[in-house]
Amino acid sequence: MPSILAANFGDLHSECHRLIDAGADQLHIDVMDGVFVPNISFGINAVEVARGSIPLNVHLMVINPIPYLEGFVKAGADTISIHIESNCDAKEALSRIRNLGIRAGIALNPKTPLKQISNILEAGLADEVLVMSVEPGFGGQRYMVDVENKLIQLRNSWPNLDIAIDGGIDDDSVCSAARSGANLIVSGSHLFEQSELSNAICNLRSKAKKNQRS
Ligand code: DX5
Ligand code: ZN
Repeated sequence: MPSILAANFGDLHSECHRLIDAGADQLHIDVMDGVFVPNISFGINAVEVARGSIPLNVHLMVINPIPYLEGFVKAGADTISIHIESNCDAKEALSRIRNLGIRAGIALNPKTPLKQISNILEAGLADEVLVMSVEPGFGGQRYMVDVENKLIQLRNSWPNLDIAIDGGIDDDSVCSAARSGANLIVSGSHLFEQSELSNAICNLRSKAKKNQRS
């Protein structure tokens, strides 16, 4: 799942179609408000622009996502992940996302322990857990291998849950992330650095599949 944070913002529409043509299965859209994270990226318009033939997976790094959920769904989001560290009632946000007819995800920062989302998972409120393997806010950071403990614990407890890994994914880190339990792979700068986008996506996918825990 390519992150369009690493795309050329000057022509986002073409960049999204380039990713779709290169075989991406979903697009990961990083929304940052400059408050929850020290960076501003894009908002609802970017989701409209990214709309195409594949699902849009929106990662909200905003302090209070609730007022914006409906707008993102109308714009074409298929999954919305909110952060457990954001300043809102996460259970309410997740229920609202589902009531709007799309998949709900819960994201957690590298230092946030899994126990903070255990009641959400036990209540069955999340379709996806997004485990951050870098501090949120910027692409191009180094993969934090320690978060793999969380992937292992999650996968052991929830064999059928969608578990995404986000940050610093390349041809090496994808292998240990998949072995630890991630089945959704987000990659930004690594993919965009390769000369052949379709080969790069293919390689990541085959490494993820080969190493995936059964
Ligand atoms: C970071 C974002 C990531 C980022 C990943 O805050 O959530 O999705 O785009 O980029 P890379 O793959 O460059 O770490
Ligand atoms: Zn992200």
